[in-house]
Amino acid sequence: MITRRTLLTGLGAGVALTALGTGMRSYNNNRAVAFARNPAKLPIPPLDKGRMEKGVRIFDLALQRGQSAFLPGSKTPTLGVNGAYLGPTLALNDGEQVQMRVTNKIGEPTTLHWHRLHIPAKADGGPHQIVEPGETWSPTFKIMQKASMFWYHPHLLHKTGLHAYMGMAGAMIVRDAQSSQLDLPSTYGVDDIPIVLQDKRFARNGQLIYSSSMHDRMMGMKGNVLLVNGAIAPRFTATTSKLRLRLLNGSNARTYNIGLADNRAFEIIAGDGSLLPVPVRHKRVLLSPGERAEIIVDVADGQTANLVTYPYKTTGGGRRGMMGGGMMGMMGDDNRRFGILKIDPSKQLKTSPAIPRRLVELPVLAESSASKTRRFVLDMGMGMGMMMGGGGGGFTVNGQEMDINRIDERVKLGATEIWEISNNSPMAHPFHIHDIQFRILDRDGKPPRGQETGLKDTVLVGGGETVRVIAKFEDFADPQRPYMYHCHILEHEDAGMMGQFTVEA
Ligand code: C2O
Ligand code: CU
Ligand code: CU
Repeated sequence: MITRRTLLTGLGAGVALTALGTGMRSYNNNRAVAFARNPAKLPIPPLDKGRMEKGVRIFDLALQRGQSAFLPGSKTPTLGVNGAYLGPTLALNDGEQVQMRVTNKIGEPTTLHWHRLHIPAKADGGPHQIVEPGETWSPTFKIMQKASMFWYHPHLLHKTGLHAYMGMAGAMIVRDAQSSQLDLPSTYGVDDIPIVLQDKRFARNGQLIYSSSMHDRMMGMKGNVLLVNGAIAPRFTATTSKLRLRLLNGSNARTYNIGLADNRAFEIIAGDGSLLPVPVRHKRVLLSPGERAEIIVDVADGQTANLVTYPYKTTGGGRRGMMGGGMMGMMGDDNRRFGILKIDPSKQLKTSPAIPRRLVELPVLAESSASKTRRFVLDMGMGMGMMMGGGGGGFTVNGQEMDINRIDERVKLGATEIWEISNNSPMAHPFHIHDIQFRILDRDGKPPRGQETGLKDTVLVGGGETVRVIAKFEDFADPQRPYMYHCHILEHEDAGMMGQFTVEA
């Protein structure tokens, strides 16, 4: 039995999403894998440098509908920016003035958020900066960032999950003077490659299936096909002995435990918002939704390097986990194995320079400089009941669902604060804060993992875990307009696991 329900009435038949009930006949993984045996070349999103007008770098970004060819023999209705699916990589420079001209052509309201650019709240593109269909929204701001990769995506209350899932997202690469001195691979599309990960579920006719079941709403929308810049398990030919892969988890809900199939180590050089102080040599990099990492893969041995995902448990009993072990299976561990990218070294490999042993000097934020500790408790307690057949709702921060008319926290401009995030549910939640970059102090009292030693804006808080972060709230005060903090599992965010803070002078 297939039940059909059109979720996206506002978009009209062209982009209407088909949601099928559980037990639906979806495009199955084996077909995707079979297809991947004859893999595509890795698509590289176009690099958009904008255009200069009176000292301001202007970007024209059209939010649009399109049709994408992901699967053999079928077309998939998608959303994209200046294209059918995903958007260009925006090239930004620290210290520069930019203007984003965002035109909404998708036929229904949405927003475009600059995931953790440090900019005034009115330019943030959160749920308060709605762009109506046909309108152009043109925020102007200065780039005040350490070199790293950021990203843009929709942020409309209750619709973020759907719009992001359909593909309205892209990367932003910021360069700064300090990082440009470093001998790191930085030729876009040659040895410096953005990798945007989004998992999808397809109906047999190629349409995307979105959040059709209680399970999808509880666990977040997870797919059984992984799109890598829009291709399934693509290949890339390396012409240099080292490749810098800028990984972005643009998925709604899935956490990826990424490694090479032959288990060789790579160097992690950057996290969300900056390079790491020193490169970290490791065999895995863990990326929850919203997080980024940059890794250097060495293919000097001439062997194909196969980047894949490894199983990872996103759930755990934790101290406060309320479910027994048997229930955990239902909580949906991210144990599906996906191929991400096969890297084939070309015969004539240009030898890349060694990775510098020191990368960036980051400001130290001493715990003693914090004027305040704020506590945030993430919960999905009622939701758990909902999954088991009870009532609905219950995705909360500090016991409350998001209310766009309520300011939850007011932070003093210039204050350094510790935010203590406790997860009162058995499922891991990636907690994201707008406006600031934070440093992770500890995770249940233990120091953060190597990949988390840089500036961060999103942190995975495991089931029952408590993570403390520290940040300074500088530059932009606005008592009227809030920034958001939320779980970056977009179905959780849409269901209420989000709050609002202002920075006030
Ligand atoms: Cu990536 Cu509030 O967003
Ligand atoms: Cu953000
Ligand atoms: Cu969550």
